[in-house]
Amino acid sequence: MSDQLSDQVAVVTGGASGIGRAIARIFAENGADVVVADVRDTPREGGTPTHELIEDETDNRAAFVECDVSDTDDLEATVATADEFGGVTVWVNNAGIFRTEEFFDVTPEEYDQLLNVNVKGAFFGAQYAAEAMVERCGGSIINVSSVAGILGNGGYVSYCTSKGALRLLTYALAHRLGPDGVRVNAIHPGGVETAMLGDAHLDDQARDAFVQAIPSRRMGEPNDIADAALFLASDRSSYVNGESLLVDGGYTNTG
Ligand SMILES: NC(=O)c1ccc[n+]([C@@H]2O[C@H](COP(=O)([O-])OP(=O)(O)OC[C@H]3O[C@@H](n4cnc5c(N)ncnc54)[C@H](O)[C@@H]3O)[C@@H](O)[C@H]2O)c1
Repeated sequence: MSDQLSDQVAVVTGGASGIGRAIARIFAENGADVVVADVRDTPREGGTPTHELIEDETDNRAAFVECDVSDTDDLEATVATADEFGGVTVWVNNAGIFRTEEFFDVTPEEYDQLLNVNVKGAFFGAQYAAEAMVERCGGSIINVSSVAGILGNGGYVSYCTSKGALRLLTYALAHRLGPDGVRVNAIHPGGVETAMLGDAHLDDQARDAFVQAIPSRRMGEPNDIADAALFLASDRSSYVNGESLLVDGGYTNTG
């Protein structure tokens, strides 16, 4: 691969599985040391833990931190682990949960559970990361939102609320942190083949209709999102800030 992330230390929340796993791997393949921060170390889809795979397959260092992103003590421990590698320079707020729901049945506890992971986790993840980055004169924060952060869907209102919040968190933080040399951008994936897509419980007909509404006529793969994250993490995007990048095969802006 390349060395475009050499000397970088990346934290990927939710990096054990799916999209986060692909991001962690591509970052390491391109020279970064990587901290995987997740509530589990084995991928939801099965296989070797991400940090072990990186240590086996690349010359770069990798570590796993058991981290619930909604717990600020865990976020602090994650920053401390990145410090052992030299200090975080790239932080990806990727951890997230999805559920379909009947809006009228959502309880305050269910609302808190989803928003605490998807929004509070990213807000304080960014706060801890930025504190370390400002000390070291810069970095890149990437928030993994969703097309559901742009298009509303009545079948998962809490999730849309959380992903829309990430979009504006991105813009507000770009404004706040840009002068300190920290860039903040968002990625909005469309449907991506991970265990989470299974959480949507699409039947064959619904899945087919979804694919037909995507101009590229396929679901995304985790590496489609990882390639975009690599761009936003690297100097290739040094003048990209406060951007919200759709990676959805054209789904959102057409039809
Ligand atoms: N798969 C899709 O179609 C899709 C589409 C748009 C956006 N996204 C977003 O991409 C991100 C990754 O999704 P994915 O498809 O890889 O999901 P996934 O369920 O396959 O993996 C998510 C990972 O996050 C971890 N996680 C969950 N709660 C956590 C917490 N509290 N603290 C730390 N880690 C936690 C899980 O253990 C898991 O390893 C999510 O933010 C998701 O909302 C996914």
